[in-house]
Amino acid sequence: MTATDERTNLDTALTQAREHYVGQRPIGAAMHADASEVMPGGNTRTVLYHPPFPLRIARGAAQRVVDVDGHEYVDMLGEYTAGLYGHSQQPILDAVRAALDDGISLAGHNVYEARLARELVDRFPALELVRFTNSGTEANLMAISLARVVTGRPGIAVARGGYHGGLLYFGGGGSPVNAPYDAVVFDYNDVDGARAAIRENADHLAAVVVEPVLGSGGVIPARRSSSLRCARSRRPMACS
Ligand SMILES: Cc1ncc(COP(=O)(O)O)c(C=O)c1O
Repeated sequence: MTATDERTNLDTALTQAREHYVGQRPIGAAMHADASEVMPGGNTRTVLYHPPFPLRIARGAAQRVVDVDGHEYVDMLGEYTAGLYGHSQQPILDAVRAALDDGISLAGHNVYEARLARELVDRFPALELVRFTNSGTEANLMAISLARVVTGRPGIAVARGGYHGGLLYFGGGGSPVNAPYDAVVFDYNDVDGARAAIRENADHLAAVVVEPVLGSGGVIPARRSSSLRCARSRRPMACS
């Protein structure tokens, strides 16, 4: 089989898979068309969008979710690890309902946030202070802006293909709606290249922003540099 034949087969298979996906989800398709009339792209969280239209999930319990057309899926995403308890766990539902019963957005600091912050700080040695945000995008924008103020330097270093939020995407040359930070881009898992780029731009950089697993960029786990691996190895001879 020639490369052109393979390509044609792949294109045909992709078209068939797309048609099958659309054909099996008439309610999802209609809801997406409806949503697109009032929201850009019919969604409000870019990372969950995929063509021809994203899954529209009706409900979830434990590790399973069900879309509006009644298809059941095993959720392998788990909110990119934030959903590690699974869906609709009873103790979590009970706690949320109890909090709602006291009222929400009460125009003052609530009685829960410091308790949660204390739990996090006590459990994770790297955490000293916690600021809660509504989204990862907001958290990263605040962290980068803070780093820029503290260091007095304007730029950031990021991995090619990195996703840090709807305004912080560095695949395919970057997104046109990215926040206007100067970004030095290095290749993920090219430790020497990253080091050189960071050193070269050190006077300009406020922060290095990097994912432990390059999620949107292909679910690529980070490798340690060989020097780090050797320094931490219990068997140094294995590194020579
Ligand atoms: C690594 C990473 N950083 C940041 C974000 C942005 O989070 P949010 O979608 O809550 O804005 C995501 C979202 O999926 C992510 O995967």
